[in-house]
Amino acid sequence: MVKAGAVRAATDARVARVRAPRAVRLAAAWFACFLAGSAAAAGDPHSFADAAQYVLRHAALDLEVDFASRRLHGAAELTVERVAPDATRLSLDTRGLDIASVALRDGSGALTPLEYRFGPPDPLLGSALQVTVPAPARPGTTQVVRIEYATRPDATALQWLAPEQTAGRSQPFLYTQSQSIHARSWIPVQDSPGIRFTYDARIRTPQGVRAVMSAAPDARSRDGDYRFTMPQPIPAYLVALAVGEIGFRALGPRTGVYAEPARLDAAAREFADLEEMLATAERLLGPYRWDRYDLLIMPPSFPIGGMENPRVSFITPTVIAGDRSLVAMITHEMSHSWSGNLVTNASWNDFWLNEGVTTYLERRVLEGVYGRRLAAMELVLGRQYLDEEIAALTADGRRADTALALDLRGRDPDEALGDVAYEKGSLFLQFLEWRTGRAAVDRFLAGYFRDFAFRSITTSEFERYLRATLLREHPGAAGDGELRAWLYGTGVPASAPPAPAGVFAAVERQRDAWLSGDAPVDALSADAWRPQEWMRFLDTLPAGLEAARLAELDGRWRLGATGNYEIARSWLLLAVRSDYEPARPRLEEFLVGTGRHKMVKRLYEELARTPERRELGCRIYARARPGYHPLVQQLVDGIIGRCEGLP
Ligand code: BES
Ligand code: ZN
Repeated sequence: MVKAGAVRAATDARVARVRAPRAVRLAAAWFACFLAGSAAAAGDPHSFADAAQYVLRHAALDLEVDFASRRLHGAAELTVERVAPDATRLSLDTRGLDIASVALRDGSGALTPLEYRFGPPDPLLGSALQVTVPAPARPGTTQVVRIEYATRPDATALQWLAPEQTAGRSQPFLYTQSQSIHARSWIPVQDSPGIRFTYDARIRTPQGVRAVMSAAPDARSRDGDYRFTMPQPIPAYLVALAVGEIGFRALGPRTGVYAEPARLDAAAREFADLEEMLATAERLLGPYRWDRYDLLIMPPSFPIGGMENPRVSFITPTVIAGDRSLVAMITHEMSHSWSGNLVTNASWNDFWLNEGVTTYLERRVLEGVYGRRLAAMELVLGRQYLDEEIAALTADGRRADTALALDLRGRDPDEALGDVAYEKGSLFLQFLEWRTGRAAVDRFLAGYFRDFAFRSITTSEFERYLRATLLREHPGAAGDGELRAWLYGTGVPASAPPAPAGVFAAVERQRDAWLSGDAPVDALSADAWRPQEWMRFLDTLPAGLEAARLAELDGRWRLGATGNYEIARSWLLLAVRSDYEPARPRLEEFLVGTGRHKMVKRLYEELARTPERRELGCRIYARARPGYHPLVQQLVDGIIGRCEGLP
C-alpha cells in the first residue's frame, strides 16, 4: 500500500511540475523524494493487521439486518493484495464476531475452504483472525477471501433501538459508530486508519425501513434490498450503516438531509445553508472529492455530536436549535471531508491531524458563511475549553495527554483521546496563520490536501511537509524549539497567539454588574444574545449561587424552558453545581431525552460529587440508562458508580 501510494503521489508531483508556480514546484519535487524515503509504514498500536504481508484493497459486504436477534449476518469478501512475496498469513481485526467459514474465491468464482484461527483475545483490541492463504499463481496479484460471519448483540459499533426509542415510534433503528476501533465488531477487516480500501455493499432489511451507508446508493436498490458503492478508498472506521424509517430532502444539487420523517422539516430549515457551506469549503480547501454531501439526523441516543462518515455525516438531533446557531457542528463534520477523510491520521496517536486541523477549518468555513463574529465567539469558547481541559488533565496526573502527538500503546483510544487534539491542534494552525499570514496558510492547506489526498500520515510526516513548504517560504516564522513545543510538548506553548479580544466583553460586563448587584436581571441585554453568549455567561458564573439568584435569572429569561441544547446544558450544569432544586424536572427530562456524550458527561460528573446529588443522579440514570448507547452507559457507570436497583 505504501509503495503504491508513493508511486501515485510521485506521478502527481511530476504532473504538478509542468504547470505549477515555483513554490509549488519546489514543494512537489521535494514531496516525491520525501515519499520515496518513507517506505516503512509507522506501526499502528491498535490493529493486528500486518500491512507488510497483505493489505486490504476492496471489501464487498452482503449483510442481512435481523432486528429480532440483534445480529447482522452474511459475508464479507475481501480483496487483498499480497505485499510480501512469501506472505501466507492474512491477519484481520475482529471483536466478538462469530465466523462460519473462510474460503478463497478463485478466478472462476469457485470457493476453496481456508484454514483460520483466532489469536489470543486482547481486552482492548479483540482477536486477530489469522487466515492461511496459499501462494497465488503469479506474484503480486490480488486474492479474494470470503468470510461468512455474524455479529453479536453486544457488538460495540452497533446500537439497536426499539421503535419507542425513535421519533416515529413505529420502526426499529440500527446504526454503526465505528471510530475509533469498533469497525472490527461488525466487519472482519484491517481496522487501522492507515489502511484504505474501497467497498460495495448489499444490505438486506425488513420491509418498510431504509438503509443508508457512507457510500453512493445504487440504482438497483429496492425496499428490503439496498446496494451501495464506495469508489474512493477509505479506512475501516469510515464504513458506516444506518437502517430505520428514514426520509430524504434535497437541499441543493450536491447536498441533502436524511432524517426520520417527523424531523425532516425542521432539519431542512436548520441546514438550508449546506450547499453554500460546501462551496465555501471548496474555495478554501480545493475540490470536494466525494461527489455528494448529505447529513443523516440520528435518533437522540446517538452518543456523539457528529461523525464524518464520507458522503453522509451522522449528526445528533441536538444541533437543531431552530435558529442555525449550532451549525459549527456541520462545518466541522463537512471539513473532515478534507482533514480526516481525504488526509487521514496514520494511527490514533496522530488524532490531532484529524481533529485539530478540522476544528481550525470548521471556524474558517463558519466565518465564510456566517461572518467573523460567530467564528470569533467559537474561537474564544474553544480557547476557554482548552485551558480548562489542560488544567483538569494536569490535576489528574495526565499531563502527557496534553501533547498533540501521543503514544497510546496499550490504551483505549476512546478513553485517551481528548479535547486537546481539537483545540490545541486548531490553535497550532492559528499560530501558523498569525506568524505567516492567512494567504500563506491557505496556500499551504490547499497544497497539503492535494499532495496527500487519499493517504494516511503521521505527525512527523506532517512536520516534514510543513518545514519543506510553509516554513521554507517563511524562514524565521517559527523557530525549531517553538515548532517542537507545539507538536511534541505538553500544555499551551508560550508562543500561542492571543484569543481575539472583546467578543464577549459586553456579556462579561453585564455578568459582573448583575453579580455585584449593580444591575438588575432586567438590565441584561440578553434578548439579543446568541447562544454562544449565553454559554459564556452561564459557564463563567461562580458555583454555589443562591437559589434566589438563579430563580431571578430563570424567571426573567426562561432558561429552564430553552429548546437550545447548548444553553440548556450550561444552565443545568450551573443549576446542579448550585443545588438549585426547581431545575430538577428539566434536568431529568434532559438526561433522559439525549444520550449525547458531551451533553451528559459533565452533568453526571457534577451529580456524582456529593451524596445527596448522587442519589438524584442515580434516580435519573435509572430511567435514562436504557436509552443510552452502550459506550455511554459504560462511561456513566464509571462516573456515578453502582447505584442500587439500576437495571
Ligand atoms: N470524528 C469525531 C467523533 C469521534 C471522535 C468519534 C473520536 C469517536 C472517537 C467527530 O468529527 C467530532 O469531532 N465530533 C464532535 C463534534 C465536533 C463539532 C467537535 C462531537 O461529537 O462532540
Ligand atoms: Zn471531528
